[in-house]
Parts: sequence; C-alpha cells; structure tokens
Amino acid sequence: MYTYDELKQFVEQCTRCPLCRTRNRSVMGKGDLHSEILFIAEAPGRNEDDAGIPFVGKSGELFDRMLDKIGMCREEIYLTNIVKCHPPGNRDPKPEEKELCMPYLKYETLLLRPKIIVCLGRVAAQRIIRPDYRITREHGIFIARKNVWMTAFYHPSAVLRDETKLPEMEADFRRLKEKQMEIRC
Ligand code: URA
Repeated sequence: MYTYDELKQFVEQCTRCPLCRTRNRSVMGKGDLHSEILFIAEAPGRNEDDAGIPFVGKSGELFDRMLDKIGMCREEIYLTNIVKCHPPGNRDPKPEEKELCMPYLKYETLLLRPKIIVCLGRVAAQRIIRPDYRITREHGIFIARKNVWMTAFYHPSAVLRDETKLPEMEADFRRLKEKQMEIRC
C-alpha cells in the first residue's frame, strides 16, 4: 500500500500519457483526507494547470459558494479529477487518457474511503456512475453502490454558461447536506 504522499509524487511525475508533454503542472486532488465526501470532476482547466490545484478559477469560486451555502468549505471535503493533467484547448479528456489516469483516482478513493461520491458534470458521471448517465435527468439523485452513496451535479462551468441551472445546483447541494446528516445518524 502506498501512502498519500507517495501517490501525490507519482501523479506529479507521471508520464503515462501524452498530456504530460503539454501540461504545466499535474493536478493532484486536494482537501480533507478523512472526509466522508469525495467530489470528482473531469480534468484540470488552464488555471488549475498553472496553480497545480483543482478548481481555482471561476468554476472554483462557484463551487466554493455552493459549499458555503450548506455550511461547508473545501477543507472539509476532498476534490479531485479523473484526469490529472490539463487537456490542451480545454477539450474533453480522451478515453485512453481517462483509462491511463484511472488508477490514481482508484487509489485516492481507496485511501480516502468516502461514504458519498459526487461527480461534477456529465464526463465524470458517465465514467464513474454509468456510461449512459443523463445529467439533466438524474442530477442530485443518490444511488447506493457498495456501501457508497453516489450522485452527480451539474459541472460549475456548465452553470456559469447557463445560470438558469443555478437553482437546481443549489438544491443538489442541499440534498448533499441532507445525505451527510442521514449517514451520520
Ligand atoms: N474543471 C474541472 O473539471 N476540474 C478542475 O479542476 C477545474 C475545472
């Protein structure tokens, strides 16, 4: 079994796929390693590639606002991406990039042992929950899998592009708070 710091080092030095040639910095997940809640997004954007930290741009600000509304902050959750390096031009990660990076996410999950997994956006939901996951229909609905509650929320950048989705996103975060209370009882 590797430690979290060893895993972080593997991610930082990774050369498993061609994204290592175009990245500035790889982006390991961040947050409370003992959190019961794991958020999984798709891949770092340009700002994250510069900072080496997930969700530092405008999407990150919205994500933080949503957490704040339910009385949480980043230090209490763990946030990561399926693909740890920025795909150039902000394109969706390719299937082979996702597969080559999945062992890191699997290991992060193994070390964290979350009780709730929230995918952020369609790309993450279709890789983690079900290939035919329909985010517009299914977001915010929790399903139980191997003793873990799973759901997906709209990706913050999708909400920034279409602010009519904001009330649904807020409702999903409130459901998350309820689920957290429920599992603690
Ligand atoms: N979008 C993502 O999917 N992940 C990040 O870390 C930042 C933006």
